[in-house]
Amino acid sequence: MKDKINAYIEEINSFKAATQEQVEGFRIKFLSKKGIVPGLFSEMKSVPPDARREMGQILNQLKNKAQEKVNELKSVFDKKDDGANASSDLTLPANFIELGSRHPITIVRNEIINIFSRIGFVVSEGPEIESDWYNFSALNFPEEHPARDMQDTFFIEKNPDILLRTHTSSVQIRVMEKEKPPIRAIFPGRVFRNEAISARAHCIFHQVEGLYIDENVSFADLKQTLYHFATEFFGTETQTRFRPSYFPFTEPSAEMDISCFICGGKGCKVCKYTGWVEILGCGMVDPNVLENCNIDSEKYTGFAFGMGIERTAMLKYQINDIRLFFENDIRFLKQFESAI
Ligand code: PHE
Repeated sequence: MKDKINAYIEEINSFKAATQEQVEGFRIKFLSKKGIVPGLFSEMKSVPPDARREMGQILNQLKNKAQEKVNELKSVFDKKDDGANASSDLTLPANFIELGSRHPITIVRNEIINIFSRIGFVVSEGPEIESDWYNFSALNFPEEHPARDMQDTFFIEKNPDILLRTHTSSVQIRVMEKEKPPIRAIFPGRVFRNEAISARAHCIFHQVEGLYIDENVSFADLKQTLYHFATEFFGTETQTRFRPSYFPFTEPSAEMDISCFICGGKGCKVCKYTGWVEILGCGMVDPNVLENCNIDSEKYTGFAFGMGIERTAMLKYQINDIRLFFENDIRFLKQFESAI
């Protein structure tokens, strides 16, 4: 038995492998359950007791040798495999890169920004965490206005003066505080409202705000600018309609409807058979707001408008559930634009 073991040790020492398969063959031959080493261990039973100790030691040596050899050969092949092999074989297929697509909210936001930049509006942004002043007070909200209610606004628990902005109108104040008229800018951004999530409402959504301040800006300018936007965005056949409305920070205020671009005004499900769909709120900036920002309301006038991006995207693509925008299901997301 001793001679047998010595012959195996000899074999192990001189073993060379050209491929990984040969290493694996070697491992199976010596070390697998039915391999040589376990076989020899089971033969130990027939070794006379006084020789067992010595035999056990040599057998262990054999086992360690075989294991060391396998480890050594494996590490050689592992090293060869990383990089060196890949770069030398130029016919290997490249890793597949999955192309993404833009989120529909991004597509619509960019399109709105493009339309307004072509007529001279620049883009600004403001913080999502605001103080009461920028979100409400400076915008002429009376102290007990219902929009300040806990139901609509997410306040920071320890300090009700800090809140998540409920609209992008807060950026109007930040821009007017810093810049002198003429001001012609749009502010895209995320807004937050403490509302139950449903197919039509979400607690997080996006708006684009517009602001134009200069001498002699009139309601006619407001109408023409928004008419231009509507025809660019929804198509040249689109008609607009302004309904009187109320916002604390604009006077007069209006909501703009567009003729339904699905049925052309005849009546359908999208326009709830009225022929019109509401798309934004707007108005002439209230003189109190201008004064809050140290802009002379005798000299300057201006208009502002704000629209929801989700709402606009839902109309454009006829999406009937706002929650789809936030679920990130790629089967939904990849329908809107092929990757560029
Ligand atoms: N901030 C208003 C809203 O969130 C929209 C608006 C903006 C209305 C600017 C008038 C002028 O509903």
